[in-house]
Amino acid sequence: MTANALVSPGRGILAADESTGTMSNRLKLVGLETSEEARRAYRANLFATAGCESAISGVILYDETIRQNADDGTPIPDYLASRDMIPGIKVDTGAKELAFHAGEKITEGLDGLRERCAEYFALGARFAKWRAVIIIGDGIPSDACISTNAHALARYAAICQEQGLVPIIEPEVLMDGTHDGQSCFDVTARVLDETFAACAEQGVHLPGALLKPNMIIAGKGCENQLSREEVAQLTVDCMTGHVPAEIPGLVFLSGGQSDEDATAHLNLMNAMDVEHPWQLSYSYGRALQAAALNTWASGTAEESQASFSHRAKMNSLARSGDWLVSLES
Ligand code: 13P
Repeated sequence: MTANALVSPGRGILAADESTGTMSNRLKLVGLETSEEARRAYRANLFATAGCESAISGVILYDETIRQNADDGTPIPDYLASRDMIPGIKVDTGAKELAFHAGEKITEGLDGLRERCAEYFALGARFAKWRAVIIIGDGIPSDACISTNAHALARYAAICQEQGLVPIIEPEVLMDGTHDGQSCFDVTARVLDETFAACAEQGVHLPGALLKPNMIIAGKGCENQLSREEVAQLTVDCMTGHVPAEIPGLVFLSGGQSDEDATAHLNLMNAMDVEHPWQLSYSYGRALQAAALNTWASGTAEESQASFSHRAKMNSLARSGDWLVSLES
């Protein structure tokens, strides 16, 4: 089953589904030109990293990439499948302003989703992602923001399952802001409760879905940052209270954490002596790619692959609590 394969031991997901705008900005930030070919070349090199399939179970692609070819001319989804990495696809069309709710977002993309899912399945995708964005601030998130995003996530998940794609349900509570860890915990709990209530209402089959949650972290601008141990404990506590046991796996997002924090937090959660029903894994974008992208700009293609290989290996070890800080140097 695809959902279980995506969270098989020692492996997790590479999120490489940055929109064209975001990927172009990331290339520019490291001093590179951007074009369709520039985006393809960087990603194709990443996917071609020897042995990365031992740490990467699946790759989330963007619409542009799922239609591109690997360096050997094979369509990228076929190339990934031949390397034992399941191709996935981002199917939302982005977070837009929520009417009458200044500073809040609603993720769009339900119109025509059934047809797009059918096309992506034909192109080789076997799982999908939809990201809702929840911002903590003065008086927000509102109930309206949480309930509309939960509803959209549940409708997306049901349509994906109907079309044969495993939905990754991603309600991301952002790290931006000055809120403390407790606020992140409380908002995340509220968001998870609403999301799973909406999923129940829409008939989503939880054993065939994955959750992509944020960890419980104080806002970037908060003076009282949590320790790594506190992040791990509060995250497991929050998930335990608010995520149904039927979900096979939680694939955390990195959300702007440093590469090492993202690995350390996951490692601590997996090293904990607590019973929980799900696999705890990763679906990292920046925390798997930041070093590789920097090396792509400053070094050779092989060096970029070596950077990616290292981060993938570190996160693979974190799946079983076997990562050590000494392995970083
Ligand atoms: P980050 O790990 O960079 O947060 O990206 C994961 C992702 O896919 C967000 O939707």
